[in-house]
Amino acid sequence: MVEELHYSYPDGTAALRGITLALGAGENVALVGPNGSGKSTLLLHLNGLLLPGRGRIEVGGKPLSASTLEFARRFVGLVFQNPEDQLFMPTVAEDVAFGPQNLSLKGEKLRECVRSALEQVGLEPARFLQRQSFNLSIGEKKRVALAGVLAMEPEVLVLDEPSAGLDPRSRRRLMRLLAELPQTKLVATHDLDMALETCTRTIVIDRGQVVADGPSGHILADRVLLETHGLELPLSLSR
Ligand SMILES: Nc1ncnc2c1ncn2[C@@H]1O[C@H](COP(=O)(O)OP(=O)(O)O)[C@@H](O)[C@H]1O
Ligand SMILES: [Mg+2]
Repeated sequence: MVEELHYSYPDGTAALRGITLALGAGENVALVGPNGSGKSTLLLHLNGLLLPGRGRIEVGGKPLSASTLEFARRFVGLVFQNPEDQLFMPTVAEDVAFGPQNLSLKGEKLRECVRSALEQVGLEPARFLQRQSFNLSIGEKKRVALAGVLAMEPEVLVLDEPSAGLDPRSRRRLMRLLAELPQTKLVATHDLDMALETCTRTIVIDRGQVVADGPSGHILADRVLLETHGLELPLSLSR
């Protein structure tokens, strides 16, 4: 839950100007808006990577503060837009193990957790555990980054532009995967067709403010609303 959230970057850019929103358990919500509207800035607040200038954030029923930061980071799994910001260990096995290891998982339990996370994202452990993260394809990197987050067993998944840079087949696979994952999801995306297919609710933000919030089928069919905010109808609704 986010209430009246304001945030300005140190250089004075006012990125968020009074954002209020709440996610219900199990909801799949798309966050859409033009470049620079504040989507990534908002997501970085949800697990405490950025701290509010003004306003309140509540995660799992607890106000986000220094004392609940660790809880919030476990509760909300954030998948960055660029997997290279997330993957920094030499092998896939080490990258996916990094989070659960910090939660003190060891030995066979840790190995099982890593295998299961890779299986969830459709990467066969036997083929991928010892691969070097840096020479995977972009689609594979994105899935490894997601596996690293799933290995922490978060209640909420927050994904920044998950389909950006994927070819059509990888994008489809990602959409199926997201549909299968039971977590509550908030997905920032330019891909309004994906938003329409995978999210029941869509929030539109522009210049750091929420300008619409409602059922995806309604919001994403509103040509005037979308065009006013620098967006276009999803392809599937544009004829
Ligand atoms: N590190 C930063 N320093 C200063 N301004 C930033 C920084 N990151 C983003 N911004 C600015 O904050 C605003 C929101 O950016 P961002 O959250 O990245 O938008 P989006 O993800 O919707 O494209 C933009 O005006 C952007 O230029
Ligand atoms: Mg962004």
